[in-house]
Formats: sequence, structure tokens, C-alpha cells
Amino acid sequence: MNEEEQTDQNEYPANATQQSARTEEPAQAEQSACSTLSVPLAQPDIGPAEEEAVRRVLRSGWLTTGSEAAAFESEVGRYVGSAQAVAVSSATAGLHLALDALGVGPGDMVAMSPYTFVSTAHAVRRVGADPLFCDIEPDGYHIDPTALERTLIQAQRPVRAIVVVHLGGAACPMSDILTIGRKHGIPVVEDAAQAFGATDPDSGHARVGTIGTVGVYSFYANKPLTTGEGGMLVTDNEELAARARLMRHHGIDRPVWDRYRNPAATWEYDVIEAGHKYNLPDLLAALGRVQLARTEELAAARRQRAHYYLRELADVPGLRLPADHPGHVWHLFLLRMPPAQRNRVAADLQQNGIGVSLHFRPVHCMTYYAERYRLEPHDFPHAAERAAESLSIPLYPRLTGEELSHVVDCLRRAFGTPSPRRAPPAELRQSPGTTAVEDDDVQ
Ligand SMILES: Cc1ncc(COP(=O)(O)O)c(C=O)c1O
Repeated sequence: MNEEEQTDQNEYPANATQQSARTEEPAQAEQSACSTLSVPLAQPDIGPAEEEAVRRVLRSGWLTTGSEAAAFESEVGRYVGSAQAVAVSSATAGLHLALDALGVGPGDMVAMSPYTFVSTAHAVRRVGADPLFCDIEPDGYHIDPTALERTLIQAQRPVRAIVVVHLGGAACPMSDILTIGRKHGIPVVEDAAQAFGATDPDSGHARVGTIGTVGVYSFYANKPLTTGEGGMLVTDNEELAARARLMRHHGIDRPVWDRYRNPAATWEYDVIEAGHKYNLPDLLAALGRVQLARTEELAAARRQRAHYYLRELADVPGLRLPADHPGHVWHLFLLRMPPAQRNRVAADLQQNGIGVSLHFRPVHCMTYYAERYRLEPHDFPHAAERAAESLSIPLYPRLTGEELSHVVDCLRRAFGTPSPRRAPPAELRQSPGTTAVEDDDVQ
């Protein structure tokens, strides 16, 4: 992957901020050129086992959805603790299927935070419903239960689902949300696109995605578990899973795998719904199975790197660091800083070869949603505030000690608190799982 591909599809590209960065506070000469290292924002950790799994499928003669996808579904279901798992082509597809399975349709409303990637809101639009935005916590990134309850009470039309987003790999505390959902008789959908494997301390450390009625994970290229593109819908509700399976594949009443491979099956099939083409092919499922087997290793590598940042940046005045908890899977490392400094810091890091991004420019500020629902940024002031002060810096398992020190050095300089250059931490000099970075990963 090249650097451009590795930047997040769901980011507000930091180079969009560069122009204003130049006109704000001029970067001090000493802040640029910490070194010539180039550190992308995200990078997948794909090793020989993943390559071999894909080769195995290539040689098998069956590339599309079949036994690998079925095995991946069972393994993910077991890992997260969900009775049903439905492999899909993306989390966007999974969210669409989840809302459809819940019977959300035209004229309905879906309560959600605007602080997310646009997929969450687009899934609502795809079923013909309208998003009912609620602000995030005054001092966090997750939907604010008080705002949610107020919004539900004031809603003009039926609210058929609540969608929560587990942002950046940290669980959205679920117990208040579930209480509100139960009180109003509204199911809770978990957009766990960014948080595969995370646990919620607020819900007895259950895995996110399994706490509400239905959950969805993304396996996009930069995610904690990746298949390049892909996703999984999980639920304990058999009927919802059956509907998702039907709609994932054209509304055909029997899986293609079954028709071709089951000796007892006939070639005939019927179409009983106008479904979609949202299946996950075996090629990608095989990759996902290896990544799943490596989940703990990959999560530990992310955690170790996040802890390094937390340690090395703890004393930088003006910089707010993300909160740590044992269930965090560290998809993102979200810094907060005074808005007046953010764009300059972003530009400065970029000039030093460091990939940065904003997660997120809130959905209600995007032209389509702003115009359609006549929304202004300040309608959701906490979301607007978070968007103005946040910046994501590189975090992934293959980030080396040298790269980490480079990021820390550049950040500290950007905040005027340079530290004597320290040797990269010994335990982080090698990427996990492999003794050397493969050739195609050298940039
Ligand atoms: C919060 C959130 N929801 C949904 C999605 C969509 O995921 P996918 O790319 O698998 O469709 C993303 C993607 O990054 C996301 O961050």
C-alpha cells in the first residue's frame, strides 16, 4: 500500500487544513525537518500466513463466498460472543442490512451522533429514513445519553433505531444507552466499525458489537482486523441474521455455495426480495481468518505503541491525550489541542513526513446533510468543538520505535517543548509477528 491509500477513507484530509495552517501561526523554522522519515497514518500488518491463506483460496478454484466465509463467520461469532455472524462486503453494507432487518424504512428516524464517518448516516438514508442527530458528550467523542433522551422525547416522527459509534477503538459506554433504548422501546445498533475486539467496561467487559440488538464491524484496510475491504454483522437474533443473509445476496432464497457444493441441493433457486450484492468473498475471508487468529497479538502491539505515546507526551502543555482503558483496541490515537494551534501542528507534522488526519468532520457539517436538514455546525456544539481540536496521529502494529520517537519529537517541537532525542524503545524496534518488514512494505 502506498501512503495515500493508507490514509483513512473517512478522514477529513489534513491537507485540507494546510492552507489555513499557513495563514495562522507561522511554523518556527526549527519545527520543520526533524528527520527524513516518512510515517503513514495507517498501515496494515499482513504477513506470510495471510499471504498463504489467500494463495490457498486462489488454488482451490472457489474464490467467492463459500466455506472460508462460513468458517470466518463462526470464528468471529465465537470470538466476540455472538450467536449469529453474517460476513459482508463492508461495514457500510452491514449497517444498511442491520437497519433493513430491523424494519427501519421511509418516514422513520434513526437517532445517532453526527461524530462519525458518513457511512453511518448514509445507511440510514439507504433505507429511506432520516438521521436524527444528537450531540456527543461535552468532554468526549461518544453520543451523549442526556442529549439522546432529550432528542427522543422531542422527535416529531417515530424513531425506529438508535445507532451508537464506538469511536477510534474505545467503547461507547453502553449501559445508559441500553436503558434509554429499553425505556423507549427502540433497538440499539452498534457501529463498531472502528472497534473490533474492544470491550465495554460499562457492560461487564462484553465485546462491543454484541451489547445492543445488532452490531457491525469494518475490516477496511486500516482497521484493527483487516481483509482490505469487508465487514461483519453480529446479533443474537436469528430472524435479523436470516434477513441480513437474504438481503446480502440479491434476496435469493439459497446461498450460491449451497447450490453448487451440496450434493443434495438442486440448481434451482428463487428470488424473494430485491436484495443487494453485499457478500464477502472467500479470498478476503481467508485473510480475515488469519488476522482473527492474530487479533490479540495485533491489539497488544497497538496498545504498546499507544502507551508509548501516552508516556512520552504526558507532560506537553496544551496537549490532551486520549483516555486509556483495558478494553480499548486503539484504532486511532486522537489528540486534542487548542483549536488555534491544531492546523499549524497538523501542517508541521506533515512537513516532517508524518501522516495525520481529523476524525471526524461531523456528518451534519457535510454539504449533503447540512443542506438537506438545514443544519449548522453549532447545532451540535460539542461535535463542532471536538472537530476543531482533534488530530489523529499514526498508530498501527508495525510502527517502529524509530518512527514513534520521530512522531513524539516532532509533536513536542510543535508544542515548543522539545526533549533531548531519546533512543527508540528497544522492545519496539521490530514489528510484531515478523522479524523483518517484507519488501513490498518498504516505502
Ligand atoms: C464509524 C464508521 N462507521 C462505518 C464505517 C464504514 O466502514 P466500511 O469502510 O467497512 O464500509 C467506517 C469506516 O471507516 C467508520 O469509521
